[in-house]
Amino acid sequence: MAKQHIVILTGAGISAESGISTFRDANGLWEGHDIMEVASPQGFATDPALVLDFYNQRRAQLLTVKPNAGHTALVSLEEKYDVTVVTQNVDNLHEEAGSTKVIHLHGELLKARSSADSNAIVDWTEDINIGTLAEDGSQLRPHIVWFGEDVPMISTAVEYASTADIFIIIGTSLQVYPAASLSQYVPLGTPIYLVDPNKPEGLSSHIHFLQGSATEKVPELVGMLMDLTD
Ligand code: APR
Repeated sequence: MAKQHIVILTGAGISAESGISTFRDANGLWEGHDIMEVASPQGFATDPALVLDFYNQRRAQLLTVKPNAGHTALVSLEEKYDVTVVTQNVDNLHEEAGSTKVIHLHGELLKARSSADSNAIVDWTEDINIGTLAEDGSQLRPHIVWFGEDVPMISTAVEYASTADIFIIIGTSLQVYPAASLSQYVPLGTPIYLVDPNKPEGLSSHIHFLQGSATEKVPELVGMLMDLTD
């Protein structure tokens, strides 16, 4: 029999206990910056050096952190289910933990791209400075989807969500669209679980809410789902 399909939408909360700051838990500041200053094309046009340096710091930090028990628990689901992780995170901690199918909606810190061609993407672990050029001669920039930019992977994510037998949401404030609307594409009657220390306002009553941190609640949820199949 075909395995059931689990689709998991993750946000910054799943990586919080690995030591990566969330976006909206500290008065709307992200590592001391207004989000629009460092995560918008306007911010990049205004002060490219500041934006490049900001992501250089994030990239360097990422290379020092490790996946936590939340990321790791999701990997074991693959023994019994067909699992797709759709993450808003730009870290690579799902892949580091061992998840095999990961879709990044908002780009990846360990990739860079041409400023002139959004499809010219390369693996990147070093700093990017003013004058670090892409192959086409344009300024290299982080492969990050900034506010106001297209989210090319959303159509793939919607296709997966629309075939989900189980949908799980972990550690996201669900404030950024289109990612936040993904659960609307899940077939009617599909169980939806949400893990977060904070209960979102106006949470639908059909969503099973597991209140707590990712390292505590994700392994619990995974244990329960593993017991459902033989
Ligand atoms: N375990 C689980 N969830 C946690 C934890 C934890 N230990 N700590 C915090 N959270 C929850 C918060 O309660 C909040 O609901 O994680 C969520 C983090 O929300 P945001 O900071 O808004 O992050 P996210 O939803 O991923 O942001 C979406 O916004 O700036 C953009 O592109 C960026 O991908 C990002 C998008």
